Amino acid sequence: MEESMKRWEGKVAVVTGASQGIGASVAVTLAKYGMIVCALAKRKDKIEALRVGLIKIKGQLNAVECDIANEQSVQSAFTWVEKTFGGVDLLINNGGVYTKALFTDENNSRELKNIIDNEILGNILCTRQAVKSMKTRDVNGHIVNINSIFGHKVNQAVPGNKPMNSLYPPAKHAISAVTECIRQELLYLQTQIKITVSNRSCYVFNVIY
Ligand SMILES: NC(=O)c1ccc[n+]([C@@H]2O[C@H](COP(=O)([O-])OP(=O)(O)OC[C@H]3O[C@@H](n4cnc5c(N)ncnc54)[C@H](OP(=O)(O)O)[C@@H]3O)[C@@H](O)[C@H]2O)c1
Repeated sequence: MEESMKRWEGKVAVVTGASQGIGASVAVTLAKYGMIVCALAKRKDKIEALRVGLIKIKGQLNAVECDIANEQSVQSAFTWVEKTFGGVDLLINNGGVYTKALFTDENNSRELKNIIDNEILGNILCTRQAVKSMKTRDVNGHIVNINSIFGHKVNQAVPGNKPMNSLYPPAKHAISAVTECIRQELLYLQTQIKITVSNRSCYVFNVIY
């Protein structure tokens, strides 16, 4: 893997939802492989904390405060990346939220909208900015959408138990469809940009070779 990651050395990666979990792990790993990583999340301090201990690595980890559900915040973050490092070569769309609110719950509109904004809109806003940057510089960029098995199937609830699916599987199904739609747009636009949907975080490094 070390060898195949060489093509990304010195290139710029944007990783969303990088303050904890899968996003933090992917961001740190890409920096260790020599990428200039711009790690985005609302909690910038949590990303700063990840930098402790990252000494003598080939790349770098930069913390950028960004709310992917907010268009202005996304634009500001990508403008900062462009001004500071020239643009983005690799986008890992990882940031997201989970809900246990049932569709049939009362007064759940805010929580449901939150899922749509964070899981679907946020992904599309970041992709739009990344494509703009990649197209302008005519680079063979790559966009990876972190998905889930729930992007392909809906779990069967145990009869009598509260179903736990809610809007998470529909949002992840949307990510599967959005990825395919954008793939077709990128072909139509005759770009060299790739877009991939990854169902498991460990697959990230299998798809960007
Ligand atoms: N964990 C699993 O078992 C699993 C399995 C399959 C797929 N996935 C997918 O993998 C991804 C990451 O999962 P995870 O378990 O690592 O999640 P997590 O631990 O809950 O972390 C979510 C990350 O997303 C960020 N985030 C949430 N809303 C954001 C926003 N509006 N703007 C910017 N960042 C935002 C959070 O940072 P801030 O709060 O600081 O903004 C946090 O860093 C998700 O897309 C998830 O659906 C997870």
